[in-house]
Amino acid sequence: MKGIVLAGGNGTRLHPLTRAVSKQILPVYDKPMIYYPLSVLMLGGIREIQVISTPDHVGLYRALLGDGSQLGIEISYAIQQRANGIAEAFLIGADHIGDGSVALVLGDNVFHGPGFPTLLQGLTADMDGCVLFGYAVKDPERYGVGTTDTTGRLISIEEKPSAPRSNLAITGLYLYDNDVVDITKNLTPSPRGELEITDVNRVYLDQGRARLVDLGRGFAWLDTGTHDSLLQASQYVQVLEHRQGVRIACLEEIAFRMGFIDAAACYALGAQLGHTGYGEYLMTIASQGN
Ligand code: G1P
Repeated sequence: MKGIVLAGGNGTRLHPLTRAVSKQILPVYDKPMIYYPLSVLMLGGIREIQVISTPDHVGLYRALLGDGSQLGIEISYAIQQRANGIAEAFLIGADHIGDGSVALVLGDNVFHGPGFPTLLQGLTADMDGCVLFGYAVKDPERYGVGTTDTTGRLISIEEKPSAPRSNLAITGLYLYDNDVVDITKNLTPSPRGELEITDVNRVYLDQGRARLVDLGRGFAWLDTGTHDSLLQASQYVQVLEHRQGVRIACLEEIAFRMGFIDAAACYALGAQLGHTGYGEYLMTIASQGN
């Protein structure tokens, strides 16, 4: 399975913060926002990842992440010229996707919860149709909203409905088989002129091939779309990291624990960061060898 991180958009809701920089490079506590969605793909065992961003911003991600070899993965870059919708990622990334399955994650989505890597690895191993992830929220009208039958099959999906049929928001992580490319090619833009991810998902729903996995209570799916939610995401990460002495979405650690790089490489990445808490953390876990 290939991965795509979509880090496009103009971030207008966060202006003036995002007038001169890309939203997905803003900090969520101690690391750039894009580390969080990237960590999701890596924890799913995905090692070939394309980052899609705007012409103005793609260079930032290249400077931050390079070709991914330091993490034992391959990162390529592609450009979304305009805000033509989330689903355009499957057209821009068609060559990258090739003839296999793909996981798309939005560059501003933060996921954290026990058992998530195992869940993802199980789902990505054998994809047929699509898998979406639902999360109960207080304000579903801000998101795509889905309902399922008792077996977890998606039976309705609506984008930002004024009267939501459930409180299950569709999160910004989507797993698809290869049909997604052709489905997207046949889409027509919505009234707002975008290729809508919800329209892609509706095709799978109509075919009876869409599943919605409820991430459940105790899981964290955090928003970074407003100043308050951005700060809250940072506070969430800060609280857990301080309390447990761990780092969330630490890409170097994940690369090490997933076996993408060895202990010596992990240690060297820490040493490069000099006397920072982040660098010392990497050197410590590499030395402990676990
Ligand atoms: C997009 C999708 C929506 C999804 C959300 C998750 O909305 O259109 O279905 O629930 O991402 O972050 P946007 O954030 O572009 O308004």
